[in-house]
Amino acid sequence: MYRLVRPLLFRLDPERAHGAGMLAVRLGSAAPGVVRAMYGGPSARLAQTLWELPFRSPLGLAAGFDKNAEGLGLWPGLGLGFAEVGSVTACASEGNPKPRAFRLNEDRALINRMGLNNEGAEAVARRLRRTDWPAEFVVAVNIAKTHDPGILGDAGVEDFHTSVRHLLPHADLLVLNVSCPNTAEGKTFEDPEALDALLTTVMAERAGQASHVPVLVKLSPPGPDGLDAEAVNESVAVCLGHGVAGFVATNTTSDRDNLTTPASRLDAIGRGGLSGAPLAARADQMIRHLYTTTGGSVPLIGVGGIDSAEAAYRRIRLGASLVETYTGLVYEGPGLVRRIHRGLVKCLDRDGLDSIADAVGLDA
Ligand SMILES: Cc1cc2nc3c(=O)[nH]c(=O)nc-3n(C[C@H](O)[C@H](O)[C@H](O)COP(=O)(O)O)c2cc1C
Repeated sequence: MYRLVRPLLFRLDPERAHGAGMLAVRLGSAAPGVVRAMYGGPSARLAQTLWELPFRSPLGLAAGFDKNAEGLGLWPGLGLGFAEVGSVTACASEGNPKPRAFRLNEDRALINRMGLNNEGAEAVARRLRRTDWPAEFVVAVNIAKTHDPGILGDAGVEDFHTSVRHLLPHADLLVLNVSCPNTAEGKTFEDPEALDALLTTVMAERAGQASHVPVLVKLSPPGPDGLDAEAVNESVAVCLGHGVAGFVATNTTSDRDNLTTPASRLDAIGRGGLSGAPLAARADQMIRHLYTTTGGSVPLIGVGGIDSAEAAYRRIRLGASLVETYTGLVYEGPGLVRRIHRGLVKCLDRDGLDSIADAVGLDA
């Protein structure tokens, strides 16, 4: 059905198309039984327990799609195993001026500079408090620093702290987004010293109120000069030292190498983070590196260019226990979830593996 709807959606500006999609999500959330009957559930061979949480599928929704946690009635019905809602920030934000999202159809990619638009930690916490989701569905809450260049250093840590205080009681998992390419000041938290200060505060708050909630950190992809192993390893060591329970890799990239989209169009679009198919190779590389450097000691969530079962399976064999998608859903529609589930089972059969957990890290 998405094949019929897509040409209409693609006539709209991407942000309007996303708004139409979210309207459908809210409608679907009101009738989860209908959605479940349409999309069915994944094979039991795709189920895993990670962080003592039950994931019935390794496939989840990437951050940014459901920034305000409005679709938790629908995402489980599509068959997804989890959703990362947010990024949520301490203060509500309108984000950057529009237009701020662009489709690159030739590259099956998007460029966005949304600028962390969201309703703010208090409002999203209120919605999560009122929302029920199935016990076999996992909700990760992704938080970021409020998009305000005036909030820096200690104030930035305090800003994260406010979000943790509001949202931690309502999260199955907490993800710290320290890699948003659209806010230079937020990204500075990838720096080991800043990360250390941030994690000291976040982990102290967690110890006091919800010490069972695993904290994950979302990282940037390798830059134009390739993967800086030393820098990544340093950040990873700081995180593991603070008890970080896993990594999400990767966020979008600011680089524009090897795109089919003409340079003139890219110039007209201006700055923003690139997502989708052109990100896949870098995200593959990052997951493999993280798996090797952590010795597989913590689960990894792979994200970036997951738009087929093959892409998902490759990322899992490189070390991801779970994968997420955003741009893949824009180009393929909700049927992508079922296609990935079916394709993953075929991959397991081909490789003589019983369950998806057996595939994690085989090619790292
Ligand atoms: C329009 C848009 C908005 C996004 N917003 C966020 C966000 O708020 N927080 C975040 O951590 N990642 C955000 N992302 C990044 C995605 O979560 C993901 O890391 C990235 O898009 C790569 O995955 P994909 O190739 O499947 O899209 C956003 C991506 C897009 C396309």
